[in-house]
Amino acid sequence: MCGIVGYLGRETAQAPLIDGLRRLEYRGYDSAGIAFHEGSKFSMARETGRVNNLAESVQKKCSPASLGIAHTRWATHGAVTVSNTHPHLSYDDKFVLVHNGVIENFGALKRFLSDKGIDFASETDSEVLCNLIAFHYSELPEGENRFVDAVRQALPQCRGAYGIAVLCLDYPDTMIGARRGSPLVVGLGDEANFIASDASAFVGRAKEAVFLNDGELAVLQANDFRITTLEGQEATAVTHPVDEVSEEVELGDFDSYMEKEIYEQPMALQNTLLGRFGDDGTTSKLGGLEGHEDELRNLDRIIFVACGTARHACMVGEYLIERLARVPVEVEHASEFRYRNSPKAGKSLVIAVSQSGETLDTLEAVREAKTKGLLTLGITNVVGSSLARETDGGVYQRVGPEIGVASTKAFSSQACLCAMLGLALGRMRDLSPMDGQSIVEALKGLPDLVSEVLQKGEQIRELAIKYSKAEHLLFLGRQSLYPVALEGALKLKEISYAHAEGYPAAELKHGPIALINPDCPSVFIVEGNELSAKTIANMQEVKARKGPVLAIAPDGIEIPEEAADDVFRLPDAHEVVRPILANLPLQLFAYHFARLRGLDVDKPRNLAKSVTVE
Ligand code: M6R
Repeated sequence: MCGIVGYLGRETAQAPLIDGLRRLEYRGYDSAGIAFHEGSKFSMARETGRVNNLAESVQKKCSPASLGIAHTRWATHGAVTVSNTHPHLSYDDKFVLVHNGVIENFGALKRFLSDKGIDFASETDSEVLCNLIAFHYSELPEGENRFVDAVRQALPQCRGAYGIAVLCLDYPDTMIGARRGSPLVVGLGDEANFIASDASAFVGRAKEAVFLNDGELAVLQANDFRITTLEGQEATAVTHPVDEVSEEVELGDFDSYMEKEIYEQPMALQNTLLGRFGDDGTTSKLGGLEGHEDELRNLDRIIFVACGTARHACMVGEYLIERLARVPVEVEHASEFRYRNSPKAGKSLVIAVSQSGETLDTLEAVREAKTKGLLTLGITNVVGSSLARETDGGVYQRVGPEIGVASTKAFSSQACLCAMLGLALGRMRDLSPMDGQSIVEALKGLPDLVSEVLQKGEQIRELAIKYSKAEHLLFLGRQSLYPVALEGALKLKEISYAHAEGYPAAELKHGPIALINPDCPSVFIVEGNELSAKTIANMQEVKARKGPVLAIAPDGIEIPEEAADDVFRLPDAHEVVRPILANLPLQLFAYHFARLRGLDVDKPRNLAKSVTVE
């Protein structure tokens, strides 16, 4: 989390840095700060809250300069205060630094520096790193490489993760960036260079991007750059074109990115599906799996690793893949996977799913899987992300930038890709061509069905108004709709701060039913199959205890009047697309519920879009 952007060029740095921070604000928005190299000193502005607060104070506190670094913070070490806000200034006023990540041994390093008489102005691990660089600098002889040598000496002493940008007062034309574990990318423009946590920070200003690898360091001037390892060996700089600013990041007529992203799902799914079916119309064709056919045909087990919403999409995949391809599937919290001594069971495939492709827990799970010699595939939305680069193969979601912190269209495309993967694996194993064909047709029809459901958005808004006073809600579903229940509860709590829990519907009577009372509504997601009768019986158990019931049910399933207070109808559809359709009203329900409470759905409290710390 945290967004970093640095600029060095001919323009004054204010506009590129503030614009860059606005684009990176999804990574954290507890506080924001900026520092400019003004020749004889650094001028700085730091504010708690949003980048807009900072933009105002920059006008008052800073004068124009063409070299600067900026940061938007998601707090890890230390409270949300101005003194903990980046950039951090070193004890001797010679260095400013912005940092994304966590220096795990900062306590020991702080003690080492304190023993040398160095004082600290913040509670952060980042200030410790800044002072460590300054300390090494003070010990080095003067010379051309003194700045870079100080950075090279300090970083190997740090345990944990970092992406940094750092300036030195004695080097008015140089900016240094380095990474280990946290993403960092160099942007190359016309007589201007950038460093940022992701390329969106310099879209429209830089033409090419160079993604740093772990253990690399970039030394930038306005017209030049050099990438080396921490040890000083030259590293290869692979340049990628930076996409032009696209309309996809503009809000258009929508009030929030979340609403926009919910309503663009038909088009997003169209893109996910485009050109991904075999010519005989019985299977899917995922380019990123090419070359791995034999391994996939002979798999003994699939392990999904993911976090949050992406993990819920994997759980949908678990049901579908086991059904279509009959491969045992496990879904792990990525953060748990790497610390387990999970037994090696035959030929296992690890599939990591992450919208951003930068979630550190997920990346570390992939790294652990690779250490164990397992084949790894990635499903991600961000082209060139760490996940895309570190896995053996994979598939892009192609849904365009997802900016709202609450993941919506990414879930739908991840679940859709899991179904496509299940289809491809099934057809490689024992799924019949006829079954394959009906799944292909169902998937091709998905965007239209999504449009049909979203057209009923007003009905969901009315339901949200009816239930918006509730502080506790339950979400319940069976089989592949159980992860949808989990996702409905997650969406509601993360943006509305109401307490919500998701359960398998039948699990209700094993404990959560104790919560039922007239103030605790239950949202049941009803299957379109023989199990629906059992779920309807669970609804009646809630009604018998005076709990309000909202049912989300397919057209073809009759819901007795006494079983639900309200019913939202979904079109009847094939089982592979039902979870995606059933999730749509829950996204809209959470959205309206939060808006009715006057909350900022795009930037819910305490959260960040991309979680790059463990
Ligand atoms: O970028 P990722 O898909 O790896 O992100 C994983 C989770 O952090 C993310 O899905 C999170 O749970 C969302 N805020 C949920 O809306």
